[in-house]
Amino acid sequence: MSNVIIIGSQWGDEGKGKIVDLLSQQANMIVRFQGGNNAGHTVMFGDKTFILHLIPSGILHENTKSVIGNGMVVDPGELLKEIAGLMEMGIDCRGRLFISDAANLIMPYHRLLDGAREARLKANKIGTTGKGIGPAYEDKVGRCGIRFADIENNSVFKEKIDLFVSDKNMILKHVLNYTGPYLDSDQVFEELNQFYSKLSPYICDTTELVAREIEQGNHVLFEGAQGTFLDIDHGTYPFVTSSNTVAGGACNGGGVGPTQIDRIAGVVKAYTTRVGEGPFPTELFDDIGRFLGKEGNEFGATTGRPRRCGWFDAALLKKAIRVNGITDLAITKLDVLDKLETLKICVAYEDSQGKRYDTLPSKQSIQKDLTPIYEELPGWNAVSSRITVYDDLPENAKKYIARIEELLGVSACIISTGPKREETIIRSELF
Ligand code: IMP
Repeated sequence: MSNVIIIGSQWGDEGKGKIVDLLSQQANMIVRFQGGNNAGHTVMFGDKTFILHLIPSGILHENTKSVIGNGMVVDPGELLKEIAGLMEMGIDCRGRLFISDAANLIMPYHRLLDGAREARLKANKIGTTGKGIGPAYEDKVGRCGIRFADIENNSVFKEKIDLFVSDKNMILKHVLNYTGPYLDSDQVFEELNQFYSKLSPYICDTTELVAREIEQGNHVLFEGAQGTFLDIDHGTYPFVTSSNTVAGGACNGGGVGPTQIDRIAGVVKAYTTRVGEGPFPTELFDDIGRFLGKEGNEFGATTGRPRRCGWFDAALLKKAIRVNGITDLAITKLDVLDKLETLKICVAYEDSQGKRYDTLPSKQSIQKDLTPIYEELPGWNAVSSRITVYDDLPENAKKYIARIEELLGVSACIISTGPKREETIIRSELF
């Protein structure tokens, strides 16, 4: 048995969905542990494409249990839509999907607050997905969130909702200059109870389920969303999401102790992308940046926004290896680089004063001011796409991977050469 955490090592969208889907074939249980429907995992199943926002992609495998962990924030209406969408495609979630009773809910006022705040920030926007993620986590930490376990159809709970709705309406009106329409607390209460009654068959103490699975010697996969540099503590703050996206988040948000974890796989794109605002030292504004965007089909799965694209950043990755304790790499989208003559890897940065940094410093004003120091490698100008055996890769593609491994001190156990499950090189098994 082994328990594996999969996380994004860059700014999200590394292609975790495919890697999780692949490993789900061997896993007995998949646990999502943070984030909400800001995530979007695109997975291909036969000739069908699914975008899952909340439900772990393990749901596509009949014998796998899927868990929405306590560390997530859940928009119940969106979750019900996702369950119904899967049902329409012949995938039944009953008895296979489990929702933590301690997970906090994204309430309608969280969505309104997210939008109104971004509008007010104008030039200093974070570029959120607008799904209410930040405000929901704020209320969780501020101890005025709503957890599934606490929803009740009675007057005491109604009083709580009345108070929260009136507080939020006040903030929207008087602080954020939101002009309406405002929320009606009776409606919010009623809708919440309707959602709860539909979701209640799935709700339980998921930490017990995870513990049982581990006790039985089964494989548990903890599925991260977003990426390391969107982490609330370790990311490019404040241009981050509001949860711990790093591997440690799997313990808090999945309800397991660190001693239960065997391997930590960092998914990393063969180049770099980012959506939303914030520093991105290796970003390209030229034809190569546009080429990567087009060739890699770099559009956000949740918002459809074009992703910013740039060279592979080993200096950034060094920090990701450290803060996650990554034991294995899964390199994705290698094939996107097939037509490039020359490739660059960022190995360090320099600020405008000429000071060198071997990895990303925390200070915001310095992060904005970094110029990458690049190492150049010859491209392979040949097809790596769809290759499934490492030795069959073009020589220069192998050299590119070897250099990444050398710079990061971690080996790549998986290399993805196309979007489909079978377009993958497995060099060593994670389970
Ligand atoms: P939020 O998570 O909606 O609050 O957005 C905060 C930041 O995280 C914004 O820059 C978003 O674009 C980014 N973000 C959130 N979810 C994802 C994701 O799944 N992939 C990539 N970026 C994301």
